[in-house]
Amino acid sequence: MAKLIDGKLISSQIKDELKAEVEELKAKGVTPCLAVIQVGNDPASCVYVNNKKKACAYIGIESLSFELEEQISQEELLTIIDELNHNEMVNGILVQLPLPKHIDENTVIHAIAPEKDVDGFHPETVGNMCIGSKGFLPCTPAGVIQLLKRSNIDIEGKECVVIGRSNIVGKPMAMLLLRENGTVTITHSRTKDLKEITKRADILIAAIGKPKFVTAEYVKEGAVVVDVGIHRNENNKLCGDVDFDDVVGKVSAITPVPGGVGPMTIAMLMNNCVETVRQ
Ligand code: GUN
Repeated sequence: MAKLIDGKLISSQIKDELKAEVEELKAKGVTPCLAVIQVGNDPASCVYVNNKKKACAYIGIESLSFELEEQISQEELLTIIDELNHNEMVNGILVQLPLPKHIDENTVIHAIAPEKDVDGFHPETVGNMCIGSKGFLPCTPAGVIQLLKRSNIDIEGKECVVIGRSNIVGKPMAMLLLRENGTVTITHSRTKDLKEITKRADILIAAIGKPKFVTAEYVKEGAVVVDVGIHRNENNKLCGDVDFDDVVGKVSAITPVPGGVGPMTIAMLMNNCVETVRQ
């Protein structure tokens, strides 16, 4: 029987640990504050941003909300970020992605002060992660590492295969697995003989962005499978990059969608917010 890795439970434990830590910090007169910027009304972004604000309220992190109209110019957005960079009351800045097409995401990510970059997307933050220096870790990949660690799944020496090479998940995921002494392969949509490579994995991370792409033929008997995807299927139900029903009988552990990696992203964002004021 495959073990179900319960991201909802593990994220709740992390949030409770953070809540206790924030209570102690508040007693010393320190309260972390996160500025959340959303441009436009993308429905998925609205859900994510709301969940982030709710998590802040639960833990005791202050949140400032900037709901900006879709038509805002890049310059105006950069001005707001600059003000927040210089605002001593604000410890973390998060700009929800994706941004409207007339705004260049890279320019915006560069504009966030690295010491407030709780998403971990700024090139300086990414560089520090790659060389193992102190700094914020990107939330979704850090959440996957926590899921594995808190489920007592060893990474050291294991064959880890990541499907997907995005800047937000695939690439940093590979780096964090490497930091944990995994033997890491990054694969992607142009990889030849993909199944032959994924079938070697002791730990398989699916972050390819295609619903139910990973079927039993991609998976080794007894592997651990982590599903980073989130999609709506033909019946409007949530599903991941992994065909859960096809794979579950073959693996030793698997994350469900929903209730796997998703809640961990927010828990790790909250951890980064607390990190800004840890003494
Ligand atoms: N859009 C999808 N995932 C993320 C994330 O982790 N952070 C931000 N800011 N936007 C996202």
